[in-house]
Amino acid sequence: MLLYLFVACMCMFGVAYEYIVDYEKLELAYYEKSLVRDAYFLFRKYNRTNHCLNVSFVLLKDLDGRKLQFTTSVHQFLSNEYKKTGMEATYNVCEYWSRDIYGTTSFIKKFGNLEGCDIKKGFYYLYNFMPDESQFPKFVPLGRYMIQMNVVRKSGAPLLRFQWFVTARFKLNNRVYGV
Ligand SMILES: *[C@@H]1O[C@H](CO)[C@@H](O)[C@H](O)[C@H]1NC(C)=O
Ligand SMILES: *[C@@H]1O[C@H](CO)[C@@H](O)[C@H](O)[C@H]1NC(C)=O
Repeated sequence: MLLYLFVACMCMFGVAYEYIVDYEKLELAYYEKSLVRDAYFLFRKYNRTNHCLNVSFVLLKDLDGRKLQFTTSVHQFLSNEYKKTGMEATYNVCEYWSRDIYGTTSFIKKFGNLEGCDIKKGFYYLYNFMPDESQFPKFVPLGRYMIQMNVVRKSGAPLLRFQWFVTARFKLNNRVYGV
């Protein structure tokens, strides 16, 4: 879902190009260990064009999505480091989930049993999840980005952090440049 926010944010930039997305890596940078057992996380190439994400874990306590915040921020790689671009969005987890923002919820539900509001303890999974590139905007500014997604309690205590490293590369347009 962070990718959806990312691409939605990208439209705020001025200059944009037709592009190809390269996924360098998606990492689970942090999770609250007292809440989760048997965490499994795998992001890898599925075939020549698609990547695939597998996640599963056992949640040890009930969580109320209304009391969780979800923050996405986009960092751009400039002068050898990832710098904040100022593109940030914060949502209430339950609200984001139930309003199906960017169609994220209905899309994610096809791949697993994740919940966003009354999150009961138990086993959760997301299998063979592939970003739906047909939903991406056609034009974005080229460059290397790190999209960070945090889930935190209202108190600010972190629960989860993902970091997604992607590159938007120039796409040669055959009609213009010939093959
Ligand atoms: C890769 O897998 C996806 C999903 O099964 C499929 O839609 C796509 O066409 C495949 N790409 C190639 C190059 O086989
Ligand atoms: C993801 O998990 C499913 C179900 O266990 C499995 O069939 C699939 O091969 C896994 N995908 C990868 C990339 O390991």
